[in-house]
Amino acid sequence: MKKVLFVCLGNICRSPTADAVFTKRVSKLIPNIIVDSAGTANWHIGNPPDARASATAEEQGYDMSGLYARAVIRDDFHDFDYILAMDRQNLSDLETLRDGQGTKPQLFMDFAPAIAMREIPDPYYGGEDGFVKVIKMIEQASDGLIDKILA
Ligand code: 4NP
Repeated sequence: MKKVLFVCLGNICRSPTADAVFTKRVSKLIPNIIVDSAGTANWHIGNPPDARASATAEEQGYDMSGLYARAVIRDDFHDFDYILAMDRQNLSDLETLRDGQGTKPQLFMDFAPAIAMREIPDPYYGGEDGFVKVIKMIEQASDGLIDKILA
């Protein structure tokens, strides 16, 4: 059974959105997959997703209820088959924590080669349209990752 972990900074905007979007898109194709998300920072542990993120997700048909922030731990590198970073800072922070052991983290957008941007921009300090953009990017990368897992 494959296990997929999405990682951003706070685990309240991008990575829980990726969890919800990927879970919905993958569920009919790969029923026994495990999906989770985490943050490299510990500021929001235990908190639900940002209200703007969950409202935008709901508008686009995705359900973020039941998700709560946690921080990445070293066991994650041994537990998960795919660890997907939203931006290069997340990737660098993950590589430091991993210390050469376990699953190597990847940039999630590397699974969406048709989109030029390799990083999903942090929407936290921006406007509402940033959250819609994040979902569109995550949809593309999710479908690329599903293709990779099914290949
Ligand atoms: P995320 O966004 O990494 O996509 O969850 C952020 C959430 C919170 C903060 C920064 C980014 N923050 O500074 O609290």
